[in-house]
Amino acid sequence: MSEPKFRVLITDSLSDAGLDILRSFPEIEVVEGSPNTVREDLKNADGIIIRSGTRLTAEVLEGQPRLKVAVRAGVGVDNIDLDAATREGIVVMNTPAGNTTSTAEHAFAMMTSLARNIPQAAASMADGGWEKKKFKGSQLAGKTLAVIGLGRIGMTVAKRGLAFEMNVIGYDPFLSEERAAEYGITLYRDVDELIDKCDFISIHTPLTEETRGLINSARIERMRPGVRIVNCARGGIVDENDIVEAAKSGKIAGVALDVFSQEPLPADSPLRGVPNIVLTPHLGASTDEAQEAVAIEAAEIITAFLVNNEVRHAINMAPISGRELEESKAYLDLGYRLGLLQSQLLQQRFKSAGLKEASIAYRGDVADKKTKLITSAFVAGLMSSGVSEPANIINAEAIARERGIHITESSSRDAGDFASVVSATVRTDNGEFSVSGTIFGDKFLRLVKLDGFLLDAWLDGQLLIFRHQDKPGLIGFIGTECGTHEINISHMALGRDDVGGEAVAVLNLDSKPTEELRAEVAGHEYVTGVDLVELPARGAALPWLDGSR
Ligand code: NAD
Ligand code: MLT
Repeated sequence: MSEPKFRVLITDSLSDAGLDILRSFPEIEVVEGSPNTVREDLKNADGIIIRSGTRLTAEVLEGQPRLKVAVRAGVGVDNIDLDAATREGIVVMNTPAGNTTSTAEHAFAMMTSLARNIPQAAASMADGGWEKKKFKGSQLAGKTLAVIGLGRIGMTVAKRGLAFEMNVIGYDPFLSEERAAEYGITLYRDVDELIDKCDFISIHTPLTEETRGLINSARIERMRPGVRIVNCARGGIVDENDIVEAAKSGKIAGVALDVFSQEPLPADSPLRGVPNIVLTPHLGASTDEAQEAVAIEAAEIITAFLVNNEVRHAINMAPISGRELEESKAYLDLGYRLGLLQSQLLQQRFKSAGLKEASIAYRGDVADKKTKLITSAFVAGLMSSGVSEPANIINAEAIARERGIHITESSSRDAGDFASVVSATVRTDNGEFSVSGTIFGDKFLRLVKLDGFLLDAWLDGQLLIFRHQDKPGLIGFIGTECGTHEINISHMALGRDDVGGEAVAVLNLDSKPTEELRAEVAGHEYVTGVDLVELPARGAALPWLDGSR
């Protein structure tokens, strides 16, 4: 039997159902590691599956030549440095739906626990008590529940609230009023507008700059007295000091937290031991069903990526299926080669001029392909020189952004001179120039426009490009020069508008032209500029899709 091609590292506990899927692939070897040695263990891994116990920091992710993909079995990717992963060209994926129901049920259980003082009553009973009066609660039916963050989990909680005959209101800046209305939820456009209108609040947003400290003393001040708050989303969204104060003062009737700004929660946290604060140790997704679902999904998406080049649930890359990838492969290759061509022309023509902007336009049938990915392939080619880290379809746009290069894309289904054409224009401080390419048949990549002239050149191997005056004798001179240097011309394409006017020629050569040949061509009286360009050989695999990075 052949050796497995890919190693997948597991550093947190993963349900057997997921491990069984991984082990069923002969191409995959499963390696068990630990969060403490993850940096070292990753040196020999192509992929990693983690839960919340492993932190993939910039320090861990940098300088991992083999690592291509990191999968979070779960939703939150706040234990992964996404910028660092993107910079390093590592695809990050998560399993967004597997634990939605379990987490929503936990949030709802927290809410009913708060409403009926169940944890406190249970503790009192365990202690031999019978405190019926002390634990009088509040009915859910008829109360107003505010759900902040109406995504997968928030919406699932909202539906349960409606089933319990609650009046459900919500806030989510990315949800339309129509969609909220379809579910019977009244949507507010500002969290401050709903904060004084509810008896229960359940939070289901990610932790972001906007949501950090979203529930704080200023907002608690404006809430109805006796409000109950649940956070099963992320620690830090509820300000922990402010909530302890509000719980102790009785301003809020209760708070239930499953997530904390520091996990595990320190033993001396002020949150502990307050009678109306209910705490669970990040249990939202801790059910057999959710753990199995996320493990299965994590195993499926990592094997699909490594074995079949399929991208699903990527956080830092456009999703693409194996079929779409196969269909777009020739265009990814075209985009990449146009980027490589532009990058080398830029260096030779504009030397130190700063690249400010690159725009890529799709016309005709190509507009229906995964153009976002083709643009990334173009940018990967464009950023291939002058950067220390290898550019690829995942990190290229981030590298360009870091350098202040603005990338734009436009598409039109109207065909021009060709069934499909991809045009790329780069703008620098000293000027701009464009190239266009197309595909003949389904695999012959062609350069069809250069310096404003239509032509038909091959986009592979060694190219000698010369701008010139269209005068008799020049082509013969170049042919003789190439012969003298023992360089065979395999193809020649000429672009010009008027006889005797400005023109450009692209020679495809069988071997690399020397600087001496360049100088001799450049020295001809009718030649105004020479560029030497080196592209991958015809049919060469895209560097990041053949198992390497
Ligand atoms: P989701 O992406 O489906 O939903 C998040 C919603 O929050 C989106 O609709 C988004 O538009 C909204 N949002 C973003 N910024 C907002 C803001 N400033 N104000 C209001 N809404 C905002 O995610 P999900 O799967 O529903 O997960 C929700 C949260 O639950 C995440 O933080 C996730 O990490 C956490 N989670 C916790 C557990 C657990 O074990 N406790 C389990 C799973 C998920
Ligand atoms: C998640 O983000 O999926 C949850 O926090 C559950 C977890 O993996 O611990």
